[in-house]
Amino acid sequence: MKRNIRFAFSILAVLALVSCSKKIATTTTTTAPAPVTDPIILAKITEGKSLYESNCNKCHGLHNPGKYNEKDWTKHLDRMAPKAKITDEQKETIFAYLSNNAKH
Ligand code: HEC
Repeated sequence: MKRNIRFAFSILAVLALVSCSKKIATTTTTTAPAPVTDPIILAKITEGKSLYESNCNKCHGLHNPGKYNEKDWTKHLDRMAPKAKITDEQKETIFAYLSNNAKH
């Protein structure tokens, strides 16, 4: 008898897991990207903005982040990072800012 109850509970647990994972799958596939709210990522975006403003206007004016999409920014940054003599980490931080404000 006890065994049957335990068995029933494990079935319930599996069902709960399955329904949870289904929920996650539908929210990630059907909704548009949510605005960034993670404080760590937000801090990175803010830092990227100031790095961009202090490193990328030495030879030309600052390009509006919304002028290019994410893919184009990746290409431009790869080309400009050696010119600006920034580290890979700074490049990645600048990219966080640019991609967050990029054209869609
Ligand atoms: C040492 C000078 C120098 C620095 C520093 C520099 N750039 Fe440039 N950038 C150029 C020159 C020269 C061009 C135009 C020629 C070219 O596209 O290669 C250019 C062009 C660009 C373009 C336009 C490309 C196009 O085809 O429309 C973008 C976007 C750009 N830079 C972004 C950046 C970013 C982001 C940074 C900072 C990481 C940066 N630049 C730092 C010299 C620089």
